[in-house]
Amino acid sequence: MEMRHFIDTNDFTKEELLDIVELSIQIKDCIKNGYYPPLMKKKTLGMIFQQVSTRTRVAFETAMEQLGGHAQYLGPGMIHLGGHETVEDTARVLSRMCDVVMARVIEHQTIVNYANASTIPVLNGMSDYNHPTQMIADIITMVEHMPKGKKLEECKVVFVGDATQVCFNLGTICTKLGMDFCQFGPAGYQLNEEHQKVLTENCKISGGTWFITEDEDEAMKGADFVYTDMWVGLFENELGKEERMSIFYPKYQVDREMMHKGNLGCKFMDCLPAFRNEEVTDEVMDSEISIIFDEAENRLTAMRGLLVYFTLYQKEATEAQKELAKEKLEKMMQKKGWNSSDR
Ligand code: CP
Repeated sequence: MEMRHFIDTNDFTKEELLDIVELSIQIKDCIKNGYYPPLMKKKTLGMIFQQVSTRTRVAFETAMEQLGGHAQYLGPGMIHLGGHETVEDTARVLSRMCDVVMARVIEHQTIVNYANASTIPVLNGMSDYNHPTQMIADIITMVEHMPKGKKLEECKVVFVGDATQVCFNLGTICTKLGMDFCQFGPAGYQLNEEHQKVLTENCKISGGTWFITEDEDEAMKGADFVYTDMWVGLFENELGKEERMSIFYPKYQVDREMMHKGNLGCKFMDCLPAFRNEEVTDEVMDSEISIIFDEAENRLTAMRGLLVYFTLYQKEATEAQKELAKEKLEKMMQKKGWNSSDR
């Protein structure tokens, strides 16, 4: 297996994405049954954050601990990245000290430039273009809550609201996997032509479908999963809160009535954090049809799978190599009179 980065889910085939999902679920099952596979033993994850995070940060750090490795939090303003040191030089340095890096960046180009200079795998913890680790968690959650008798390819996913990076990436992964995807959002806040081209190309190969609509009945007809994201605080230079609210509220707020228009058993999803009673009502968030906290937990499920999958190419030294290295060190210390057994 060759070294690869996880920058965009669309760089991967359907089979590869499903392999990551399957591996993540298998490791989750091990841990639920008390076996913590030491698959990241002695490995270090560098966690670069240019923005704040709850789920992504905690999930990555916990995943490393559970798999026998270690994570270093490099939060906003804590390292020289892009300040006193170029993005590329930071990547070159961390490549010599860590085994894998994840980065949450403000601009997507930053992670692309970082990955180009990195000799270790780089996992995208969200940019202004996409959110691939979230997508693996979302597919795992859908697999776990699949409508009875249906396959993933037979499910319809509806994203309600603005064409955020989460909306685009959800469309990308659903169409890549052969699912049916719909964005229910107002004109001016819909996936753009470049986004649409990606979805169309995916559907040509996978047999999936996509469409955008402002009609709630059309959007919700046959929906198995309904997903939303925040309306405010997502973009630089966006309109004020009141103006943004007036674009989406009340038509695009996910409420009971909207959910009832989906298939029987239709589930509510949200990448979180959410502004309660703005993009979604409390009633839906806290109802039996809401799977948002399973989805949040599956950020951890996904991170474990991703960390293992992207470090599989790293070969362990043989026992003979380890023994020889140990012998050489002990000989050198003996020669100097430094008794290692004193420790
Ligand atoms: N969904 C998500 O990425 O959450 P955080 O911003 O808390 O990481």
